Amino acid sequence: MSKIGVTETILRDAHQSLIATRMTTEEMLPILKILDDIGYYSLECWGGATFDSSLRFLNEDPWERLRIFRKKMPKTKLQMLFRGQNMLGYRHYADDIVEYFVQKSIYNGIDIIRIFDALNDIRNLETSIKAAKKESGAHVQVAISYTTSPVHNIDYFVKYAKELEETGADSICLKDMAGLLVPYETYDLVKALKESVKIPIQLHSHFTAGIANMSLLKGIEAGADVIDTALSPLGMGTSHTATESMVAALAGSEYDTGLDLKKLNEATRYFSELRHKYLDNGLLNPKMLEVDINALIYQVPGGMLSNLVSQLKQAGKEDKLEEVLMEVPRVRKDCGYPPLVTPSSQIVGSQAVFNIIGGERYKMVTKEFKGLVRGEYGRTPAPIDPEFTKKIIGDEQPITCRPADLLQPELEKMRGEISEWYEQEEDILTYAQFGQVALNFFEKRRNEKYGIDANHLDTENLVHPV
Ligand code: CO
Repeated sequence: MSKIGVTETILRDAHQSLIATRMTTEEMLPILKILDDIGYYSLECWGGATFDSSLRFLNEDPWERLRIFRKKMPKTKLQMLFRGQNMLGYRHYADDIVEYFVQKSIYNGIDIIRIFDALNDIRNLETSIKAAKKESGAHVQVAISYTTSPVHNIDYFVKYAKELEETGADSICLKDMAGLLVPYETYDLVKALKESVKIPIQLHSHFTAGIANMSLLKGIEAGADVIDTALSPLGMGTSHTATESMVAALAGSEYDTGLDLKKLNEATRYFSELRHKYLDNGLLNPKMLEVDINALIYQVPGGMLSNLVSQLKQAGKEDKLEEVLMEVPRVRKDCGYPPLVTPSSQIVGSQAVFNIIGGERYKMVTKEFKGLVRGEYGRTPAPIDPEFTKKIIGDEQPITCRPADLLQPELEKMRGEISEWYEQEEDILTYAQFGQVALNFFEKRRNEKYGIDANHLDTENLVHPV
């Protein structure tokens, strides 16, 4: 009998954290059957940044990927990561779009929908939780965005967990995207959570600082029910604790996972080859694999760190990384200590980059940062100094209601806008979140369907009808 469940993240968070979410469906296909046979509690395989990356960089329909997963992995629970009212995009969407997305995700194969809000503002989760509860068989896991700050203490997290349970969560994930959890704090926090709520607790902690495996172990001792891990070829570094190591560490104890190391090894061998390919083609930067204790100082999650590096590279300012990392906590304090996770990680990260590259703090303020300060993303964990708010948004009025209350229904409008490209209902949801990127994808899809290679159109000899 297995006591501790294991959620394998190799098809979602592992490659999102290490190789900017570039693993293709083609690369995943040969190993799906073996993954399905391992006996994981669940396989996190969809949502997060995979949706955007599929469309933008891989020319793949994310919905098609999900349907392939469902078909090839009939036994294992498929899990996705969903950002509540933000869905998988970068703004707040109207309730009708959120409801429809949740419904279609479950319809196409998702069993466990992990929903979180970057600011832990429960008002941003209510619509998606309600929508998921309506679908029979769906498991609604709500994640607490873990962070440290003067306001993020055990009482804060316990209070939030109780609210989540009351709102209908089937389980709670303690989501430590930056690898900030340290073993004994994890123990105390998980213990407090287990004493306060009746639903299962799952642990998600990135390996960035090299201590996530110890935190998972202490969390398990304190009563955690399920842990997130990643097979070792794409584990550790800014990704997760290696699955094989945790399985081996717990084997034979009262916390045995029930997973078979020999079976896991087949998958490990396959992903080892991919790891070498990613190292050779430069997708996997060995820097991401180093133990980085600075994460505990700067609280920068794995995905954000690689974004900062590439943003600075583009600007030819790679030497400024250290300064930007010092600026991140200062920006975070200014805007009410948001946990650093998408989209707040991008918002705070970009603002920190501008503050350093621009040579003066807040000389240039991004639209998104203004939005965060104005309350467009919800309530920040700590109130923002009114003086600072005024400096950033001038005389504009801050928003205090649930941000989505200000949005008109969008679904039918979106449907109309893509009528030319429509092939499936899901296209509307793709377009709603990714606009022009979605249209580019739809165009390529159509060209491929009719055998036209847009890159090889002989424009010189095109006959223009007059
Ligand atoms: Co993560």
